[in-house]
Amino acid sequence: MAEKNNNRSRVLVIGGTGYIGRPIVAASAREGHRTSVLVRDAAPADEAKAAVLQGFRDAGVTLVKGDIYDHESLVAAIKSADVVISAVAHAQHADQTRIIAAIKEAGNVKRFVPSEFGNDVDHVNAVEPAKSLYAGKAVIRRVIEAEGIPYTYVSSNFFAGYFLPNIGQAGVTGLPTDKVVILGDGNVKGIFAVEDDVGTYTIKAVDDPRTLNKTLYLRPPSNTLSHNELVSLWEKKVGKTFERVYIPEEKVLKKIQESPMPLNILLSIGHSVWVKGDHTNFEIDPSSGVEATELYPQMKYTTVDEYLNRFL
Ligand SMILES: NC(=O)c1ccc[n+]([C@@H]2O[C@H](COP(=O)([O-])OP(=O)(O)OC[C@H]3O[C@@H](n4cnc5c(N)ncnc54)[C@H](OP(=O)(O)O)[C@@H]3O)[C@@H](O)[C@H]2O)c1
Repeated sequence: MAEKNNNRSRVLVIGGTGYIGRPIVAASAREGHRTSVLVRDAAPADEAKAAVLQGFRDAGVTLVKGDIYDHESLVAAIKSADVVISAVAHAQHADQTRIIAAIKEAGNVKRFVPSEFGNDVDHVNAVEPAKSLYAGKAVIRRVIEAEGIPYTYVSSNFFAGYFLPNIGQAGVTGLPTDKVVILGDGNVKGIFAVEDDVGTYTIKAVDDPRTLNKTLYLRPPSNTLSHNELVSLWEKKVGKTFERVYIPEEKVLKKIQESPMPLNILLSIGHSVWVKGDHTNFEIDPSSGVEATELYPQMKYTTVDEYLNRFL
């Protein structure tokens, strides 16, 4: 169990049992923050969930029973934290207004990190259905700002665990065998971040005055690659070349319209990143954003090159 440092903020994670919540909780405990997680069920029958909670207890994390739809439980949990991090999923994005209302009532929160962890939602050129997904996150930003709650938005771009097991192919499952599907011309750069690093950078940011009321962008230079570069990297590792099937934008747009959920979501995210360049087509404005690897140069992040070795 990591020793707790009383100079560090007390962190409450809402959605801490989720995919990105887990590495955030782990990083918070590891970095010495007194850490609590809002859990709906502290004794779940599901073995995997129970194991996650036991792992939290073992790391010295406090489990607080509550639900974002139970205002009193939310206010009580927030009152014993300095920092609130939300890692809820899409179904609860809009209902983060409930967290905001509870933060206002509690009155003690020094930093709120809403559930984002993807594209910078104020810099997207996405089509539906990704467009609405990003717009929903942007609405939450505007509510936070209107309420005057101190915030950090985390724009972590592609999670490695979501987008590298298929070598960046939108809507394709598994590693390529003979061909790779590339949206657009393959020369637009996207950005990958490994989940543990997303957790660590997020936690480093919560007590950092440089990230106050800013967007923290994760743009690890070694993990900023075009789809063509990513495929070449994989080809080098496996000693094989794949047929590259390029899909022009009009065909991508048609395919998005014709595809069922969730394929249309994956394709529209792929279109936003690989065709429109939404991870890299803008400079970070220093008045509203900071870059994580520049703020924390001593932290060694996992590179895409290293991560791909897991699939060999
Ligand atoms: N950049 C990327 O590549 C990428 C990929 C995926 C997701 N994301 C983003 O990451 C964020 C988190 O998504 P995720 O996939 O990690 O989510 P997830 O795995 O579905 O986890 C959702 C969490 O919310 C909790 N939750 C659900 N309803 C709740 C309620 N009523 N009260 C309190 N907690 C509740 C769940 O708790 P239980 O354990 O009780 O169910 C769980 O801990 C989202 O903003 C998403 O858009 C980004």
